[in-house]
Amino acid sequence: MNQVLNPSILSSNFLNLERDLLELKDNNIERIHVDIMDGNFVPNITFGPDQVKFLKDSTDFYLDCHLMINNLDLFVDKFIDLSVGCITLHQESHNHIHKFISQIKRNNIDCGIAINPATSIYSILDILDMVDKVLIMTVDPGFGGQKFIDGMILKIEMLKEMMYKYNIKNTKIQVDGGINLNNIDKIYALGIRDIVVGSYIFNNNGITKNI
Ligand code: DX5
Ligand code: ZN
Repeated sequence: MNQVLNPSILSSNFLNLERDLLELKDNNIERIHVDIMDGNFVPNITFGPDQVKFLKDSTDFYLDCHLMINNLDLFVDKFIDLSVGCITLHQESHNHIHKFISQIKRNNIDCGIAINPATSIYSILDILDMVDKVLIMTVDPGFGGQKFIDGMILKIEMLKEMMYKYNIKNTKIQVDGGINLNNIDKIYALGIRDIVVGSYIFNNNGITKNI
C-alpha cells in the first residue's frame, strides 16, 4: 500500500462517520488508524471490538488497530477474530508481550509494537525482528490534539541506527501524535512512510483540503 498518511478516526465526526470515511476514500485512503483505549492503560475511553466489527463488516479499509489497553488476555483474541489489518500492542501494557506478538503473527495478522515517549527503544530490541512495525508515540497516548514532543525526532533517528546496526530490514516505523503541517516534513525526511494524523485531518478546513 503506497499510502503515507494514516488518518486516525479518533478525531472524526462520529455523527457523520460514514460521510467522513467516504471522504477519506475519495482521497485514496485505504488504511485507517483505529485508537482503542480502555480508561486504564490510558486515561481515556474510546471504542472496542464491537465498534471495530462495524468498520470491518461495512468497509474495506485496512484497519490499523492501536491497542492502548491492559487486558490483552481478553481482547487480543477478539481483534484476531475480526481479522483486522494490523494489531499494535504497547510494550508497556503487559509483562508478557512476546506471547501476544507470537499469537498475532501465528494468525497471519500484521503486528506492531508501540512505545510511549518515556520508553527506551532498547526495551524492544529483542522483539524487533518479530514485528511488522514499531510505533513511536510522539505524544503521551490517550488524547488527540496534543503537542508533538520534539525530542522524539532524536529517538526515531536512534531507532533507525539501531535497526541498521542489528540488520533489522523488514520492520517499518510508524509515528503517531501531534503531527501537523508544521512538523510532518521533518518526519517524512527521516524516511517515515506511515504517519498517523488525527486532529489535523478532521478538525480544520475539511478533510480533503487537510489531506
Ligand atoms: C493518541 C492516539 C493518536 C491520536 C493522534 O493516543 O494514539 O492516534 O489519535 O491524534 P493527533 O494527530 O490529533 O495527535
Ligand atoms: Zn494511535
